[in-house]
Amino acid sequence: MRAVVYRGPHEVAVEQVDDPRLEAPTDVVVRITSTAICGSDLHMYEGRTGAEPGIVFGHENLGIVEEVGSGVAGIRQGDRVCMPFNVACGFCATCLAGDTAFCLTVNPGFAGGAYGYVSMGPYRGGQAEYLRVPFADFNCLRLPPGTEHEDDFAMLADIFPTGYHATQLAEVSPGETVAVFGAGPVGLMAAYSALIRGAARVFVVDRVPSRLQLAQQIGATPVDFSQGSAVDQIKDQTDGVGTDQGIDAVGYQATVAQGEEQPAVVLNDLVQTVRPTGTLGVVGLYLPQDPGAPDEDAAQGHLLFTVGKFFEKGLRMGTGQANVKAYNRQLRDMIIAGRARPSFVVSQQLPLDDAPDAYERFDRREEGYSKVVLKPGQAA
Ligand SMILES: NC(=O)c1ccc[n+]([C@@H]2O[C@H](COP(=O)([O-])OP(=O)(O)OC[C@H]3O[C@@H](n4cnc5c(N)ncnc54)[C@H](O)[C@@H]3O)[C@@H](O)[C@H]2O)c1
Ligand SMILES: [Zn+2]
Ligand SMILES: [Zn+2]
Repeated sequence: MRAVVYRGPHEVAVEQVDDPRLEAPTDVVVRITSTAICGSDLHMYEGRTGAEPGIVFGHENLGIVEEVGSGVAGIRQGDRVCMPFNVACGFCATCLAGDTAFCLTVNPGFAGGAYGYVSMGPYRGGQAEYLRVPFADFNCLRLPPGTEHEDDFAMLADIFPTGYHATQLAEVSPGETVAVFGAGPVGLMAAYSALIRGAARVFVVDRVPSRLQLAQQIGATPVDFSQGSAVDQIKDQTDGVGTDQGIDAVGYQATVAQGEEQPAVVLNDLVQTVRPTGTLGVVGLYLPQDPGAPDEDAAQGHLLFTVGKFFEKGLRMGTGQANVKAYNRQLRDMIIAGRARPSFVVSQQLPLDDAPDAYERFDRREEGYSKVVLKPGQAA
């Protein structure tokens, strides 16, 4: 089959690889109809992780079940399914607690597994024609048959639940104010989720005009940090108080207005923006190693975080990969009921062969490149 293969920094190619097959009785094989490119893929793409050439990318996958292992009970051939980016077993202690992003069995020696991602286990990605799904009963979310809401449902693999998770970590409640840093797909979904949860006012910080426009479109207040300090702009609009909650949807490759990377700048901006005893939800990625870090400490994941102010203000912070399975079923039902339309972030639907060009453009955060969904069944 054809798949998107990482070749080295700033290079992916669509290549022929072996077809996946059932490896355990609990597996299924899915024919992929939609598979999205994620900001998380870009960290690998830019050579900013330990990813080795040869990885098949793709952790945001949706498709039709083709083959079913003999030990699978609830999934049938022909089912339309969406897979959380997390690969999880369903029976370990953290899975039983609902924290499926930190599964203890699928990636021995590490808490958490994912498709097509460095350090996340041997699971090939789904930017390909087919995908093997382990523990299929647990890892497949069933969708209504047909093709309706295809791009909305594709957002259930990662960014919609991840945005929602950010609001859960930040404990967003009705009537509150929220500052979301980053208007990439994850930040936009966090803002959208905050509004779903009843936030009174949501600020979204970025510098890419088309992304800020999308934030405005859903009813958030855009803040352009290239036009002056985001902290000051938000404080000015909240009577100097700041917001009740803050969300980091940027991560360690955050930049300052001049374009230079400063890995802790968003965390520190949040400490300043959020009012005393407020809560931070951090879903932007931070890594224990960064081969392209701006300094030696950052290369080891040691950042200059203003913990003094953080403590003084009595702030709290939740972090980590999103437990997609904790939310994907409910968010699916909001889509079906017409109460959520996360596909507003999708800007391109492209055949698999266009992946190299799409990666390049999405990586540049080109205007109008907010979220790309690859369609492996579509002819180039
Ligand atoms: N925790 C999880 O489960 C999870 C899941 C998916 C993605 N992620 C992470 O979330 C982050 C965002 O992902 P994405 O797909 O939206 O990617 P993205 O890279 O497209 O979005 C990041 C956005 O942040 C903006 N930005 C950069 N510096 C900024 C600053 N100082 N202030 C405000 N905005 C700034 C960029 O312009 C960009 O639009 C990535 O780090 C990704 O790895 C985490
Ligand atoms: Zn993703
Ligand atoms: Zn588990």
